[in-house]
Amino acid sequence: MKEKMVTLVINGKEVTVPEGTTILEAARQAGIYIPTLCHDPELSPWGGCRLCIVEVRGWKELPAACITPVRHGMVVETESPAVRHARYTLIELLLANHPEDCLTCERTGSCVLQDLAYRYGVRRTRFEGEKRNYPIEDSNPFIVRDMNKCILCGLCVRVCNEIMGKAVIDFAYRGVRTKITPPFELPLEKAGCVFCGNCVAVCPVGALFPKPMWGQGRHWEVKKVKTVCPYCGTGCSFY
Ligand code: SF4
Ligand code: FES
Repeated sequence: MKEKMVTLVINGKEVTVPEGTTILEAARQAGIYIPTLCHDPELSPWGGCRLCIVEVRGWKELPAACITPVRHGMVVETESPAVRHARYTLIELLLANHPEDCLTCERTGSCVLQDLAYRYGVRRTRFEGEKRNYPIEDSNPFIVRDMNKCILCGLCVRVCNEIMGKAVIDFAYRGVRTKITPPFELPLEKAGCVFCGNCVAVCPVGALFPKPMWGQGRHWEVKKVKTVCPYCGTGCSFY
């Protein structure tokens, strides 16, 4: 059966995509940037971080582009003053309980949250958030977990579950205590983790880091190579 096509306008550009396409996918097809923190095209949609909000003419709310399907005749703005203001506030809220150690963080220069703060001009946050004080988890040889830096995007949970079929980690607790952890806070090595590295690869911030690369150089000092590393043998390349 022939696919039904839908035409909409994004930032003044006419875009025609198959029915069911999300605003985010349509924008990307048209080469229009929309920031995301919890989205990965290989994983199920989540709609949690709201960084991908856009303005749709005639709509009162700002929908999340990653979970909102296009409609025929839609007129979308991805960087309107309302969108930029809301994104600015969202970034401030994320930073409110985030450690302020960007200067020495292993992910500095390759952190999506840092990039977005820079892009939207968020130099400090107006909000005083609950700071977390979890110990850094590094009892295994492969992955360092610093849950103080976690922004709860859920990418690691979904990749572990949907790609690896393992479900070693999940959300636990509630409110400001919400945390990504293996069951009963077991260390990864005792929770069935196979150290595939997929969770590290999708983490947008410094919450998960490959232990063999810890302290080995800043992002811009490290060269990315395709290789089968001696650690796990799965052939991934982290950055
Ligand atoms: Fe997202 Fe990283 Fe936290 Fe997992 S550990 S929820 S990938 S920020
Ligand atoms: Fe759309 Fe997070 S990327 S809500």
